[in-house]
Amino acid sequence: MRQFNTTPTHNIDAEINWSRRHLLDIDSFSRDEFNYVTNTALAMQEILTRPIKKVPALRGKTIVTLFYEPSTRTRGSFELAAKHLSADVVNLSPPASSITKGENLRDTLRTLEVMGADTIILRHHMAGAPHFAARHAKSCIINAGDGWHAHPTQTLLDIYTIQKYKKNVEGLKIVILGDSRHSRVARSNISGLTRMGAYITLCGPPTLLPFSIGRNDSVQSMLKVELDINKALDGADVVIALRIQKERQKAGLIPGIEEYISGYQLTGHRLKQAKPDAIVMHPGPVNEDIEISMEVVRCSQSVIDEQVANGIAIRMAILYLINRGNG
Ligand code: CP
Repeated sequence: MRQFNTTPTHNIDAEINWSRRHLLDIDSFSRDEFNYVTNTALAMQEILTRPIKKVPALRGKTIVTLFYEPSTRTRGSFELAAKHLSADVVNLSPPASSITKGENLRDTLRTLEVMGADTIILRHHMAGAPHFAARHAKSCIINAGDGWHAHPTQTLLDIYTIQKYKKNVEGLKIVILGDSRHSRVARSNISGLTRMGAYITLCGPPTLLPFSIGRNDSVQSMLKVELDINKALDGADVVIALRIQKERQKAGLIPGIEEYISGYQLTGHRLKQAKPDAIVMHPGPVNEDIEISMEVVRCSQSVIDEQVANGIAIRMAILYLINRGNG
């Protein structure tokens, strides 16, 4: 595993008046806001190096994780982040709750609110569910991934990870490889990384690339599509491989896994097209030897484990910032 560059290379002077009650997506984040979150995460990371990794910042606050879809990284790191900040944490799993008896999302939110939830961290298969929750709940809402729409804390931790290795996100060539059409990580990363000044190349089979990319001209001008993986990787600073979901093959969007592997798997040989100091990322979970070879997962350029570790500091930062301004 690579050594962390613990020296902040981003704009440590970014100081803003944080006023967000919810974190629903990052489409309206300014560059200063991204830097403010990642700078706060740097401070949180210091706490994680202490023998006792706990501060009283959120003592007395109640944080609920409400995940309608499975999760290892996001849910686990939010729970750890809340505990490091001394919050009380309740994990609610729909299969083991009254949701199985027909309770709808609005009822569940109201029930959690009555119980005193200050913040609800919501993952849902329906795009827009966290926006619905924010309209109907008094608690702060954090989007932990909604349908194909957004995964804002993944993008924040990806920016934080890139900032640890690269002098500046601005001007970097970042390749997003694989199924960007059905990926909330890709959507949020395209929005966030172009806002930070990176040039994005999307690469994958045409059936797994978005129908339309970017909602405004500033995003469009930073984005391109390249079907040839070797051309896409040429001179890349960062390569983000995305999980290939098996249901895409059932839906006929790819002819077969073998064809996908042969055309688009990130192998050690293909990675040589990228810059020698390029880093390799993946949001997880990895399908071993499908979208990325295990040789690349384990190589010195891979920062996949650091992404997971950085998720705790970023989620501590978000929980702290959201709750700080709300009583
Ligand atoms: N990256 C990510 O969202 O992973 P989980 O599904 O394990 O939370």
